Amino acid sequence: MTPTETLTGKRHRTDVNPMRVLTLKMDGQDVSAREDETLLTVARQNGIRIPTLCHLNGLSERGACRLCIVEIKGQARLAAACVTLARQDMEVSTRSPRVLEFRRRILELIFSERNHICAVCVSNGHCDLQDLAVELGMTHVRYEYMYPRHEVDASHPRFSVDHNRCVLCLRCVRVCDEVEGAHTWDIMRRGIAARVITDMNQPWGTAASCTGCGKCVEVCPTGALSEKGRSVAEMKKGREFLPYLQMMRRDELH
Ligand code: FES
Repeated sequence: MTPTETLTGKRHRTDVNPMRVLTLKMDGQDVSAREDETLLTVARQNGIRIPTLCHLNGLSERGACRLCIVEIKGQARLAAACVTLARQDMEVSTRSPRVLEFRRRILELIFSERNHICAVCVSNGHCDLQDLAVELGMTHVRYEYMYPRHEVDASHPRFSVDHNRCVLCLRCVRVCDEVEGAHTWDIMRRGIAARVITDMNQPWGTAASCTGCGKCVEVCPTGALSEKGRSVAEMKKGREFLPYLQMMRRDELH
């Protein structure tokens, strides 16, 4: 089998032949793919659900969140499906016990790194991260919360950014650069200290390059970027969550 190849932040690889059709196995099912297609694309074409967070159709891939990990036969490391190209005779598992366990751990790490307190978040009930926690059956977090104290920048007349909610998916950076063409957003520092910035770390309200289009807010998967005065269904009580609270308490006892 050809070694695994990845897309690395580029929209398209130039050294692949998009006319060549490959055959591979995904979750035991025979599937076909073009040489320039990623495993995520192939999965979606064949009705196989792989959870994603940083991926967004129409934007380049970053492989930032790692929630789309899959297992490839003969390869020790799990691979991010959104940046891994399909290869002839690959055998891919999207839901093996190892994949599910690591996916859940990654999600827990994302939750533990910043402050995702859904009950007081403007995006409560409208949040991709929250939806993923439900989908992956995340009832509690096994890691210590870091509770960082990040600032909220509300200097823009219409929008605000709460770095406490940011998951560093970089959707805002990519949509602003690749769709709007403004490149207002960027990222500074690395690892745990990384954060998104506007115009070389100027307050958003003074960022001259910002067109005020709001695309960054639209694509944000959490409540990190929001439009002022557009809170939705905050603090609405939902009795349907009670069974989950009970499940959470049971899990914590074990
Ligand atoms: Fe693939 Fe985020 S969706 S790494």
